[in-house]
Amino acid sequence: TRVLVLNGPNLNLLGRRQPEIYGTDTLADVEKLCAETAASHGLETDFRQSNHEGQLVDWIQEAREHHAAIVINPAAYTHTSVAIRDALAACDELPIIEVHISNIHRREEFRHHSYVSAIADGVIAGCGIQGYALAVQRVARLLEQREG
Ligand code: DQA
Repeated sequence: TRVLVLNGPNLNLLGRRQPEIYGTDTLADVEKLCAETAASHGLETDFRQSNHEGQLVDWIQEAREHHAAIVINPAAYTHTSVAIRDALAACDELPIIEVHISNIHRREEFRHHSYVSAIADGVIAGCGIQGYALAVQRVARLLEQREG
């Protein structure tokens, strides 16, 4: 069973980009954390990052066929993208957890609104990269409940 973990724009720079906000762990560290957390629940992860909105939309559409759940940090597209929200809304069979490394509610006003939150099953913000591990754990639980 494969969980798609998607990362939006600028997260390729994680660890070097505003470390006072996002910390010093890199996206490779996040990938490892997700893989390890998933493995402990008998799941696999498919971990991806893109700076391009359309690429993210394509991957979300493909998840309908190929993945059991989606964990997504849409990064700046959180606050702008109706296209990503609509793509996620079309995955009505899949559990979806939204993750933000920083606490978007404690930051600038324009980060307080998310287009994704209203269609996500859960939202995690301000837990650092641990938020990804929490999201994978949550997905594992939701998939277990679905099977049971
Ligand atoms: C972010 C928060 C967004 O507001 C920002 O644009 C990001 C990262 C986070 O993980 O805290 O790029 O999604």
